[in-house]
Amino acid sequence: MSSVTIRCRENGPLVIQGAFQIIDHLGNPFPLPQGKDTIALCRCGHSKNRPFCDGSHRTVGFQAGETAPPPQPASA
Ligand code: FES
Repeated sequence: MSSVTIRCRENGPLVIQGAFQIIDHLGNPFPLPQGKDTIALCRCGHSKNRPFCDGSHRTVGFQAGETAPPPQPASA
């Protein structure tokens, strides 16, 4: 099991929790807030602080409600 969890917030960002780095397209890490193990990444495209969420998804009416498929029953 991974030590990182990514949660899809309904109508909001991707929230990443755990030990991780966020690397730009040149291979450089974004500075992350000290002492926090949770970061929200923008997936609406409207943040002025990408790749991080700045709450703009609320004002632009971003909608996303994807859900994971239900667990499959174990085969005998
Ligand atoms: S998801 Fe929050 S600003 Fe884009």
